[in-house]
Formats: sequence, structure tokens, C-alpha cells
Amino acid sequence: MTERTSIHGQWSSRLVFILAATGSAVGLGNIWKFPYITGENGGGAFVLVYLLCIAVVGIPIMMAEVMLGRRGRQSPINTMTALAKEEGASSAWSLVGWSGVLAGFIILSYYSVIAGWALAYVFRVAGGLFNGADAAGVQAVFTGLTGDPERLIAWHTLFMLMSMAVVARGVRAGLEKAVTYLMPALFVLLFVLLGYAMSTGAFIDGLKFLFQPDFGKLFYVCETVAGTESCELSGSPVLVAMGHAFFTLSLGMGAIMVYGSYMPKGTSIARSTVLIALLDTLVALVAGMAIFPIVFANGLEPGSGPGLIFQTLPIAFGAMPGGQFFGTLFFVLLVFAAWSSAISLIEPAVAWLVENRGLTRVRASAVIGMTTWVLGLGSIFSFNIWSGDEYKLFGKTFFDLLDYLAANIMLPLGGLLIALFAGWLMKRESSVDEFAMHAWRYGLWRVLIRYVSPLAVVVVFLNAVGIF
Ligand code: PFF
Repeated sequence: MTERTSIHGQWSSRLVFILAATGSAVGLGNIWKFPYITGENGGGAFVLVYLLCIAVVGIPIMMAEVMLGRRGRQSPINTMTALAKEEGASSAWSLVGWSGVLAGFIILSYYSVIAGWALAYVFRVAGGLFNGADAAGVQAVFTGLTGDPERLIAWHTLFMLMSMAVVARGVRAGLEKAVTYLMPALFVLLFVLLGYAMSTGAFIDGLKFLFQPDFGKLFYVCETVAGTESCELSGSPVLVAMGHAFFTLSLGMGAIMVYGSYMPKGTSIARSTVLIALLDTLVALVAGMAIFPIVFANGLEPGSGPGLIFQTLPIAFGAMPGGQFFGTLFFVLLVFAAWSSAISLIEPAVAWLVENRGLTRVRASAVIGMTTWVLGLGSIFSFNIWSGDEYKLFGKTFFDLLDYLAANIMLPLGGLLIALFAGWLMKRESSVDEFAMHAWRYGLWRVLIRYVSPLAVVVVFLNAVGIF
């Protein structure tokens, strides 16, 4: 095969690829979503399944995505078409790319809404609103914000404009710069919060919740209504844990594939991937260790849903010395983490519009930003005017439904197809050539991608629909 080049440019080094992919992976998923779904799904056992999924499903599929992207060097839709042709497979494989573009739209629409909350909190913390506040005061600020659709629309709009602006500037100028210093700074601040969590007196309770598995909770979902707990059988927590492994590593929708397409040839895919997955997991676990002690120390409910970090962390910032400063910085960095993820959600679609419709990056980003913005309104209303039961389907709000559909169904399905393509349809020589790694490592990847990852995804799906 003759070596392809990408018309969109290339990362300047392996380090920049690692930073950009880590920027994509580390985001609201780690700091906002991981703690709240862990809280909703009972803690330890859920975390264990999630970690297992990262290891046996996430890492092999991430390697496959980067490898396919680097070989195809185009938007995921065109990469899949080109590689399918090259390997003598059906052109229907481009559907993987299409479903990824759709998943990206869906995720970005609500991602931007939540990132808008983080933006709003920058100003609330900086203005000293939480100084000395108790749990009830912090909760009042949260419901005040989420109950006001106009305000939410303003923040959502601002975040969407920020994301479009970076994507419009392109691979080198736009995407690289944002991540170099901000990710390490966020990491440091999480440790500051961890320090506070240790001083709350409930640190051990937090750790137990996160790391002591109670496997009964994986198959029963419990809800406490007016002090009485009721539990029902459900296969869903295992699916949510697997879906989150995909979500947090940005897998199954072409985001990592498109970043792989800008990766220089001759750099190790395996080493970069393992490093990115480790960093991502570490951020999530540290966030969890910081948040749950605050939850328990203040008598809050771990399963209180998407508002969890917004109702817990401000208590810490309100109480710790220098909290106003650290808190402001924390939410600024959270916005940056969300920003560097959001741009990767749009990039597959933008790359395709540039390649196939001849749009400039600026126009392509504008088209995509506006469409997703409109969809985001549905998620905004889920927290206020559409929060009532009459607006729910299967007991879920519009926001919950979108998140469930994209993260727990579309991403794992996309990942499954990517695994099957890379493991079964692609000729061994092709992947050997692209990876250029030690024979035993290649052998391990091949076993995982052909058997372990696809089987795991299928079993979890069957489990969720009640067949296992
Ligand atoms: N990985 C991001 C996070 O954890 O916040 C979210 C995400 C980005 C999901 C890009 C999917 C994606 F393609």
C-alpha cells in the first residue's frame, strides 16, 4: 500500500497526539459523569466492572481505532470506506463512520449544556457565592441555575461558540494549543480537592463506597423514596459501566480514529494508547475519591444524579482556605477539559464535510455547531419545563434518553463493529504493518480484538436485555 497523507494536516509529534487524545478522553465524563453514575449504580462493583471494561474492551478497541485512522488518514466515514475497499470488504462499513457522526451530534448536544453549567459555576464561585455555604445553600444555587432555561441557553450558546471557534481553526493551530498546559493543571487541582476530602472525616467511607464491591448491586437498582429503599432487578448497571468505558475513552464514534488519522507514522500506537487510558482512569478515580467523602460527610445522597459534583464540590470550596481561588480555577479547568473533548466530538463530521462537500473548516464547524445547539435545547428543558413525568419515556428525561442511547448503545455498537473489522476483516499483514510492534504484544492484541472484546460487548448487551 502506498502511504496516505491527510489533507487536514498532522500532529507535530507523538507527544502532541498523546496530549490531544488525552484532551479528548479526559473531560466531563471523568469528573461529572463517572461520580454520578457510580453513585446511581451502587459504587464498588460498578467501578470494578468499569475498570475491567477499560482493560479488556477499551484499550484493544482504542488501539484498533488509532490504527484504522492512521492507515486511512481521512474522516472516519471515508477511512472506513477506503479500508473496506482495500481489504475487499463491503462498502457498508462506512456505516460505522455515519453512526459515529450521529453519536457525536447527540453527545455534544447535551455535553455542551453541562459544560455550560461548569461555565456558570466559574462566576458563581469567583463571586464568593459559596463561601461558608452549607449543603442546602449549595443545592439552592444549583436548582436556581438549572431551573432557569434562559440562563442555561445562554451558557450552552457560549460553550458551543467556544467549541466551534477552536475546530474552525484546524488541527495544528486550534486543537494542539488548548491542551498542553491545562490538563496537568487540572490534575494538580484534583489533588488539592483530594486533600480536602481527606480532612472531612468521611474519607474512608468514600473509599469503601468506591472500592468495596457489593455484587448484588450490579443486578438490582435501588431507589430510596421517602426513607424507604426499594430495589428491582436490572441488567442495566453492567451496560452503563461498559458504555461509560467507551464514553470516557472517546471510543466507538470515530473521535479517536480521526485523531489517529493525524498521527505521524512510525510512532508506537500501543504505548500511546495504554498511557492515555491510564491517565484517563486515574483522573476519574481521583475525582471519585475527592467527591464521595464530601457526599458522606454532608449527609448527601450518592445517587442524586447529574447535579452531584455541582452540589458537593462547592461545599468543599466554601469551607477550605483559599477555596474561592481554587474553586474558580477548578471550574475554569473543568471547562477546558470539556472544551478539549467537545472539539473531538465535532471533528469527525467536520473532516467529512471538508473532504466531501468542499466546505471550509469555518463553515463546516458553523453548520455542525448550529444543528447540535438546537438539539441541546431538549436537554436544557429536561431540567426544568420538561422535567415532569408526563415528559418522560421509560422513566427517563430527554437528556437521560439521549445519554443512554449514545453512550450505552451507539458507542458500544460502534466499538463492536470496529473490533470485528480490525480483527476479522482486515488482513493480518495490514494490521501487523500499521502497528509495527513486538510479536507477542501484537498476538495479545489480536486475541483481545478478535475474541475477548467483541464477546464482552455482546454478553453485556444480552445481559442488559435480560438474556443472561
Ligand atoms: N471522553 C469524553 C469525556 O470523558 O468527557 C467525552 C467524549 C468525547 C465521548 C469524545 C466521546 C467522544 F467521541
